[in-house]
Amino acid sequence: MGKVNREKFKVYEGVFDNATLDALENLKRRQYYDELGGPIKTGKEGDVYHAHKGDTRLAIKMFRITSANFKKISQYIIRDFRFRTIKGNLRKVILAWSQKEFRNLQLLYKAGVNVPYPYKQFQNVIIMDYIEGCMLKDAIIENPEEIYKQVKEQLHLMIRGAKLVHGDLSEFNMMLNSEGVVIIIDVGQAMNFKNKQDFLEFEDLLLRDLENVCRFFNKKFGFNVSSQELLNELKEGLFD
Ligand SMILES: Nc1ncnc2c1ncn2[C@@H]1O[C@H](COP(=O)(O)OP(=O)(O)OP(=O)(O)O)[C@@H](O)[C@H]1O
Ligand SMILES: [Mg+2]
Repeated sequence: MGKVNREKFKVYEGVFDNATLDALENLKRRQYYDELGGPIKTGKEGDVYHAHKGDTRLAIKMFRITSANFKKISQYIIRDFRFRTIKGNLRKVILAWSQKEFRNLQLLYKAGVNVPYPYKQFQNVIIMDYIEGCMLKDAIIENPEEIYKQVKEQLHLMIRGAKLVHGDLSEFNMMLNSEGVVIIIDVGQAMNFKNKQDFLEFEDLLLRDLENVCRFFNKKFGFNVSSQELLNELKEGLFD
């Protein structure tokens, strides 16, 4: 990597580790984006930054896998048949994790689920469309019935279309965009099932997702929806 390029990234030194800086430089050189902007959200597991390519606004997600979350993440990796051969070191797991989120985004997108379009994954970096909006938990919702209907529709598409159980679904990982459309995000932990046996293994995860969803609507809007009923509805005829 040339010195000049590195100079441009000086402002991010100390913010990202060297491997992440290298991946960002590489992606920029290959013109996956023009300019990196400021942070959208920074956390202990990863950061999401603004970026753009031409007129397209992008979100760049970078994973930081520390020994603290390594164990948790490893479990999601080895339980998913697509990644069962991955074992061992931090670097391998971080790559598998980024790949897993990217592939999940692709699967979901293909199944018609509203997710940010995934452009590229390289190392621990994912480039996707920027969603103009906010988390469901912060959204001003005037039509909760309609929003709940949308969430259910997204769940149907995830389970039946993409065959993925999100595994961390809540008002924190759903956004409401500026057009009032529910968008699903943060799908790194989502588990792909290829048959009934896999599905049964992940049913507890799905039920937890549905509990989060129902709790949110029951608490905030006085709904009386049941996660168990929702589960039955989603499962109906799934393997017929
Ligand atoms: N494509 C996007 N467009 C706009 N904002 C986004 C996008 N992706 C993520 N965000 C914002 O960044 C926040 C964090 O993203 P995300 O939930 O994917 O990661 P995370 O919460 O850090 O992951 P984890 O929950 O595992 O720590 C989101 O709550 C959302 O506000
Ligand atoms: Mg999140």
